[in-house]
Amino acid sequence: MEFEEVKKGLAGVIVDDTAIASTDSSGTLIYRGYVAEELAERSTFEEVAHLVVYGHLPNKKERLKFSNLLSRNSRVAPNIDKIMGLLPRNAPAIDVLRSIVSMMPLNENEDDGKLLEIAAKMPRIMSDWHRLSKGSLPLRSTDGTYAERFYYLLTGSKNKSDARLLEELLILYMEHEFNASTFTLRVAASTLTDPQAAMTAALAAIKGPLHGGANAEILDYLLQMKSTSEARRYVDAKLRKKEKIMGFGHRIYKNKDPRAQYLKERLRVFAAAKGAEKLYDIATAIEDEMWKMKNIPANMDFYAAICLYLMGIDSSFNTPIFAASRSFGWTAHYLEQVSNNKLIRPSSRYIGPVGMHL
Ligand code: SDX
Repeated sequence: MEFEEVKKGLAGVIVDDTAIASTDSSGTLIYRGYVAEELAERSTFEEVAHLVVYGHLPNKKERLKFSNLLSRNSRVAPNIDKIMGLLPRNAPAIDVLRSIVSMMPLNENEDDGKLLEIAAKMPRIMSDWHRLSKGSLPLRSTDGTYAERFYYLLTGSKNKSDARLLEELLILYMEHEFNASTFTLRVAASTLTDPQAAMTAALAAIKGPLHGGANAEILDYLLQMKSTSEARRYVDAKLRKKEKIMGFGHRIYKNKDPRAQYLKERLRVFAAAKGAEKLYDIATAIEDEMWKMKNIPANMDFYAAICLYLMGIDSSFNTPIFAASRSFGWTAHYLEQVSNNKLIRPSSRYIGPVGMHL
């Protein structure tokens, strides 16, 4: 067998073909040929989820069928709340989501149905856990679009304009080719394990602070800043200490993350409407300083975390929200992997001791 040496972290390595999404360092992101920002601006979450999973925008009949599948699968069995009631109150929401997903009973039979049923249940699992962990009763289900239901489950509010910003954010989080959690899912799927196990693997990977866990840490530093000059000093001090600042940098995007720039423009107007212009100015000062000092762009998580904060969404939801949206991308990748499968099993160069004897 011929061996090919690649960079650590598989940086710059193309490991397989995909027809689902494409990103490039100049800052382009397309889902099935459509520019992601255009989809965020002009489509609904259900339309884009159908596009990502099935490869085409739904016609009227397909849109109704897909929306019905998501809404009828949006509830969880009553015993799930009982199980959540036994979990430690301080358990991270992403851990609870992963644990419940790993063992909850499913009604759908086909792979795509099972994956979509899991995706459809995530908002309810997160909401029930959040309220149970605070001693409140779960919110009753509500009608509306996927994003409006999701926003209501996160906040108890039916504010349609905030729900629309959440919908755009969810569309931009939905898919990102072979990011760490998606590749984890594809490795699991390549063993032909079941969809539920593969989704559980992806949920384990997305928790990491280098990946989906970053967005929960951004507000920890951002909300401490009292002025733009303090923000700039903070960045300089962190960089001097060679410490990483959450919400910045990306393996692919070296100039700009198109999702971050889209949300930054939406946030400029949204922050003004919420009387949070100063927070916006501090955020853009941090972005400006990071670019000036190290040419490192803001990634999606930076502006997403601020949008979610101004929507009144508890930051413990940030990573689970990312996961709930990305579970539709994971669905597409599971189906693509198993449709033309080869077990993913790389080799390694052994550098350990040899010739040892007991
Ligand atoms: C997501 O892959 C995806 O598509 C992910 C994602 C998706 O949609 O799935 O886009 C979502 O995960 C966004 C990333 C969220 N993570 C963070 O914000 C955590 C902070 N970011 C970094 O840890 C880092 O930027 C990574 C992990 C995102 C990317 O790291 P790379 O490509 O492995 O690059 P690197 O760590 O080798 O950094 C290269 C240089 C280093 O400096 P030098 O040693 O060369 O001097 O850039 C520096 C790093 O120190 N650097 C940072 C930095 N990120 C990189 N310096 C300060 N702050 C940062 N955030």
